[in-house]
Order: sequence, then C-alpha cells, then structure tokens
Amino acid sequence: MQVIRDLAALRATTAALRAGGRRLALVPTMGALHRGHLELVAEARRHAEAVAVSIFVNPLQFGPNEDLARYPRDEAGDLEKLRGAGCDLVWMPGVEMMYPPGAATIIEVGGPAEGFEGAARPGHFRGVATVCTKLFQQTGAATAVFGEKDWQQLQVVRRVVADLDMPIRVVGHPTVREGDGLAFSSRNARLSSEERALAPILAREVRGAIAAMEGGEAPEPALEAALARLRAAGFAPDYLALVEPETLRPWPAGGAGEARLLAAARLGDVRLLDNMPACLPG
Ligand code: PAF
Repeated sequence: MQVIRDLAALRATTAALRAGGRRLALVPTMGALHRGHLELVAEARRHAEAVAVSIFVNPLQFGPNEDLARYPRDEAGDLEKLRGAGCDLVWMPGVEMMYPPGAATIIEVGGPAEGFEGAARPGHFRGVATVCTKLFQQTGAATAVFGEKDWQQLQVVRRVVADLDMPIRVVGHPTVREGDGLAFSSRNARLSSEERALAPILAREVRGAIAAMEGGEAPEPALEAALARLRAAGFAPDYLALVEPETLRPWPAGGAGEARLLAAARLGDVRLLDNMPACLPG
C-alpha cells in the first residue's frame, strides 16, 4: 500500500495505473476509520482494479463553532486498518497542499444542499463540494464511493458531478450498523456509556415511523409520534423529515413510491444522523 502526501507523486502514480489499464475507485474520508469505512473500501474494490482512500480533515467544511482541532485523528491506526482492508493507495494531503495560500475558488451548491444539514451547518456543503471536486480532480478516479449514512452529502456530491460534467461515477453504499442498529459514525466515540445505550432508539424510531407510513398511516402523525418518543427518551431532535430521495424536496401530500426519511437528533453534545428508504403506498 502506497501512502502519498505530495500531489506530483499522486499524479505520477495514478497516471501509471491508467497507463496499465487499471481503473481507480476512490473512498474519500476524514480518517478515524471504522467498520463503515472499511465496507466502503470493499465496495470500491467491486468497481475498479485499484482502490484509493483519501484521508483529509477538511477545514472548509467545519463551521466557526465546530471544533476542527478536536476532530479525532489516528494516522497509524487508520493506515493499519487500510492495509488489512486491501487498499492500494492512501492520499494524505496536508492543508497547505489542498488549499495553498491564495486559493480563492469554492463550489457553492443549491438544491439538495439547502435545508437539513445545510441549514444546521452553514457553509458545510460548500466545503464538502469543494474538497470532493478537488479530490476527484487530483486522483482522476473513475468511481467514488460514499456511505448512505450521510444521505444529503451523497445527493450533494451527485448534483455537483452532474452539474460540472465530471467524468466520475458516484456509488452509494448502504449504511453499516452496529448489532443494535446504531449507524457507524466517528461521532459515536463521543457518546457517554449512558448515551451509547440510548443511541439506537433513533434508528428504531426511524424504522418504526416508516413501518407505520408503509402500513398506511399518514406521514404527519407518524412523524409527530416518533418525535415525541425521541424527546421522551432524552433526544433533542432537529428534524425527522420525509423527502424526495434525490432533490430532498418535501414529500408531496398523498405521494406514492420511493421516499427517504431523514433524521437528526442531539443526544447530549453529539448530533446523530440517520436515514432510511420508505416506500409509500400513497
Ligand atoms: O464524509 C466525510 O467524511 C467527508 O464529508 C468527506 C466526504 C470525506 C469530505 O471531506
């Protein structure tokens, strides 16, 4: 496994791969890797002959009140896990390499970037879109793999790729969960043991609300009941919203077919996200 920190070296390596007829699949990450990330590496392997993982804690996607300095970092542990997962190349640029002095271009996304995490974290998706565009350019990957756990992020990246005619295929991988249903996330490590015991209730309520709606209950009362149960369990919910899966527009009243239920709720200091598909009978 090659660990590359320099853009010229990355370009030389990826050019050699392409010359040898090997396509590259990229898994963009911010490190602190867990089982969810390693499943993305396995998914990437299904789409290309070579797999690259980028590790870059992107300052541009953190708000002024979000603690960039406290973001978990474990370079040695991450590299060890990636070696075990059969990753071929790790791209680890420094902040100066990614955003050299004078850098003045950002990607601003409307549509699916508006609302939800876009409203809760102003500027977040601008940072995600900009860094992903750069990572795609830098690696020349044919495919990029993202977890469905951050559903809105996945739709934002798809939008950017379509709007800017980027020659890359974006693949979403289903959320990887702990045995009790909690979605894997780097944030889970910040839960106290009491909070960790409560955390799976979020997934349970999302699943329960979907079962109610798929069984014919109207969305509004089903979501209100789930929100009330989350509050009673100690969560501070931000949103529980039924949306069109790609645009993230509100699900139309009486609509039938594939929808997505998005959830965000705080448990103590930790903001947990989840989402699942729902097939509404109309
Ligand atoms: O999901 C993440 O870890 C980040 O938002 C990403 C896609 C690596 C961009 O920095």
